[in-house]
Amino acid sequence: MISGHTEQYRVMEEPARRPLIVVGMGGHGRVLMDIARVSKTYRLAAVLDDRFSGVELRGGLPYGPIATLKHFLADEPGMHVVIGIGDNRTRRAIVEMLSLPESSYAVLVHPAAVVAEDARIGLGAVVMPGAVIGPGAVVGAHAIINSGAVVEHDALVGPFAHVSPNATMAGAASAEEGAHIGSGAVLIPRIRVGSWSVLGAGGVAVRDIPGGKTAVGVPARVVQPRLSVEKAL
Ligand SMILES: CC(C)(COP(=O)(O)OP(=O)(O)OC[C@H]1O[C@@H](n2cnc3c(N)ncnc32)[C@H](O)[C@@H]1OP(=O)(O)O)[C@@H](O)C(=O)NCCC(=O)NCCS
Repeated sequence: MISGHTEQYRVMEEPARRPLIVVGMGGHGRVLMDIARVSKTYRLAAVLDDRFSGVELRGGLPYGPIATLKHFLADEPGMHVVIGIGDNRTRRAIVEMLSLPESSYAVLVHPAAVVAEDARIGLGAVVMPGAVIGPGAVVGAHAIINSGAVVEHDALVGPFAHVSPNATMAGAASAEEGAHIGSGAVLIPRIRVGSWSVLGAGGVAVRDIPGGKTAVGVPARVVQPRLSVEKAL
């Protein structure tokens, strides 16, 4: 101690992280588990997937079937949920099946994502590492903003839409409900991809794409999709 000074320390307490359940442990679900691991807001409390027939502990963490969700929610106050299923339609079907109050859903943002102060992110949405969400952008409920994706200022991502890794939505572009913007695809400013449409990987949308269509290429043109669901993921 330096004479004349009293030594004073402050213990910096981290705010308690909220418990989080990830539903689905395929590829996307495992990414969400990984985000929860580094999140300052949430801590992983359970993983539910119907590949489990009963609850089992793995590394101290309970894994169980989706039907046990209600018990986990009742067990711990403040529990939040996120759906770890990449396919937009399946994710919506699970949300409908669970019919939880919307306030049960987390907004899971990787600490290495950059989100503008006035961007709005809906409940159940996830934002992955390296993603950038600009001022005035709106991301709908249960949407996915994947690794390195850019959602520029005033862009709009509808509920259940998915902006894949390294895709770019320029200013005021929109991907409506359930739209899937493939990896590395680009929407030039103000372009709209309609609901449940797919813009293929690497495609560049320079004109609006109507709802329910698949478009590929540079510039993107609507094609007749064979559309194996797995390939669109
Ligand atoms: C566009 C897409 C959905 C088409 O799937 P599909 O209907 O199964 O398409 P197919 O593989 O049968 O291809 C149909 C035709 O389109 C072409 N094609 C497919 N994807 C293409 C793409 N991204 N860009 C340009 N052409 C493409 C194929 O070469 C094929 O052409 P051909 O008939 O002349 O041989 C899929 O290829 C795609 O790009 N999905 C995005 C995947 C992604 O980014 N996922 C991110 C996960 S995080």
